Amino acid sequence: QSAGIIGAPFSRGQPRAGVERGPDLIRSAGLVHRLNQQGCAVKDYGNLTFEEVAGDESLGLMRSVRAVGSANRRLSEAVQKVKRDGHTSVLLGGDHSLAIGSIHGHSALVGNLSVVWVDAHADINTPLTTPTGNIHGQPMSYLLHELQSKIPILPNFSWIKPCVSARDVVYIGLRDVDPGEHCILKLLGVKLFCMTEVDRLGVARVMEETCDYLSAKQKKPIHLSFDIDAIDPSVTPATGTPVVGGLTYREGVYVTEQLCQTGLLSAVDMVEVNPLRAQTERDVQSTVGTAVDLLLGCFGRLREGNHPSDYS
Ligand code: ARG
Ligand code: MN
Ligand code: MN
Ligand code: MN
Repeated sequence: QSAGIIGAPFSRGQPRAGVERGPDLIRSAGLVHRLNQQGCAVKDYGNLTFEEVAGDESLGLMRSVRAVGSANRRLSEAVQKVKRDGHTSVLLGGDHSLAIGSIHGHSALVGNLSVVWVDAHADINTPLTTPTGNIHGQPMSYLLHELQSKIPILPNFSWIKPCVSARDVVYIGLRDVDPGEHCILKLLGVKLFCMTEVDRLGVARVMEETCDYLSAKQKKPIHLSFDIDAIDPSVTPATGTPVVGGLTYREGVYVTEQLCQTGLLSAVDMVEVNPLRAQTERDVQSTVGTAVDLLLGCFGRLREGNHPSDYS
């Protein structure tokens, strides 16, 4: 399959500067060249541009609501174009609020989909449960049919139509879930493998159960939303909200390999890489390099080596 890359240098879903540098950093680590090398055709659609939104004052705790709404509207349209062109969509963030537009646009073109959300956080706060007001902690709440009645009317958000069912979502890597989020996840019965389950079952069993769960009904296209903070901060420290006790590099890569194997992977987000949160240049390299390797895993990279005749 081919990859259609969209860069979204956007950071208004959270307060820390730097995450808007993610797309160019990930590209400069050789993403396109390395995808080509493993036999994957790539079209790079470049970076989206986002206009300054005037009069974007806070709404209670919630900051930059209008900017997040309009950026995601743009992104949704860009993802629809990539899918119309027949590619697997690759969103390079930017912060995780971008999952709103990415998943919305993906679903607008392919219909019902499954979401695999790999993250230390559940990002399912509503505007009423958010403890921080940061929209990168909320994207899932706007996307789920089941939460529609809990979402107040927000400026620049009216175009968003909920498009995902709670039963079609699997979380992997959770270890920092807010009380309101825990309540929502329980109430909706969302399938999740927090780090405790990864420890108990091992990543192989987690992925086996994830793939069984998602293909039990009908096989829908899969949207992988990968927050780099799912990986342990000893490996990926350059991120805004690091949480100790995360997935190892190998567990992360294994997740991508197994999702690729399903043949259903149709869109991928790689978000929350923030070079300004690193202590050293080496920390940046390790974080960005891991993001690239995770993306390569999504497109068929095998650690045993890829034989050229496998490409076609
Ligand atoms: N749960 C916290 C919040 O709602 C942290 C969210 C972190 N999200 C992320 N995409 N890194 O603000
Ligand atoms: Mn996170
Ligand atoms: Mn648990
Ligand atoms: Mn996240």
